[in-house]
Amino acid sequence: MYLPGAFVLALGALRAEPRITEAFRTGDGYGWDRHDADVFDGCELFFRPGYLANLVPSWIPALNDVQDKLAAGARVADVGTGLGASAVLLAQAFPAATISGSDYHHGSIELARKRAAEAGVANRVSFEVASAQTFSGAGYDLVTTFDCLHDMGDPLSAARHIRQALAPDGTWLIVEPAAGDTVEANLNPVGRIYYSASAFLCVPNALSQPGGYALGAQAGEGPIRQIAADAGFTQFRRVTETPFNNVYEARP
Ligand SMILES: C[S@@+](CC[C@H](N)C(=O)[O-])C[C@H]1O[C@@H](n2cnc3c(N)ncnc32)[C@H](O)[C@@H]1O
Repeated sequence: MYLPGAFVLALGALRAEPRITEAFRTGDGYGWDRHDADVFDGCELFFRPGYLANLVPSWIPALNDVQDKLAAGARVADVGTGLGASAVLLAQAFPAATISGSDYHHGSIELARKRAAEAGVANRVSFEVASAQTFSGAGYDLVTTFDCLHDMGDPLSAARHIRQALAPDGTWLIVEPAAGDTVEANLNPVGRIYYSASAFLCVPNALSQPGGYALGAQAGEGPIRQIAADAGFTQFRRVTETPFNNVYEARP
């Protein structure tokens, strides 16, 4: 982990404090896209080391069948990709795979394109500005959502769209903040950090979007499992976890 990234993220989010306070009064929410640029950079600084340490060495091998498909040249959609850290890591580890990243925030996608070019993988990693409910393409072997499903106002429509976009034997890798299903289970240092981040970032973002959900970073396994089931996924399991993330696999 790289904890300084969490401070860049937190201090960036605090710049919107008066507007977020007002958004709590009105109930209008406050979109991710309206935040200071430090929020996007800090988010990548904080999460990327965890992905670097875990995604290829442990999370992908924990999924059924996925590693071999990636090595053979799988088609991947990375939804809510932010600055594209996860998309670039997958492309670097699996030279035959092609990755389509998407995010509803235009500024993040511009930076993600730069990151992919700097990493020398732009020929196999493309990006589009699109929501999780509308991203393009079909027949994906793997769809990934890293730390973003709980941010969405309509995670159920996103899950339905992901299911439609997957090949019949495809996999949805869901990486979410580490959280238990009860308040008591979150009364620990990571839970305290994530409750604060959730109040400033995740819940206001969800409320700024249509859909009526406000899961926040403390969604826990129960609500994520429910969304997958409601979207028609027939298989769901928690495959692994770290101090900062719960990792789930859903299959059509
Ligand atoms: C906490 S950040 C995570 C970014 C990136 N996946 C990562 O792990 O570094 C949440 C991301 O979700 C995106 N997002 C929020 N609502 C979205 C939606 N409805 N559709 C697509 N992306 C969305 C935000 O723009 C932001 O990039």
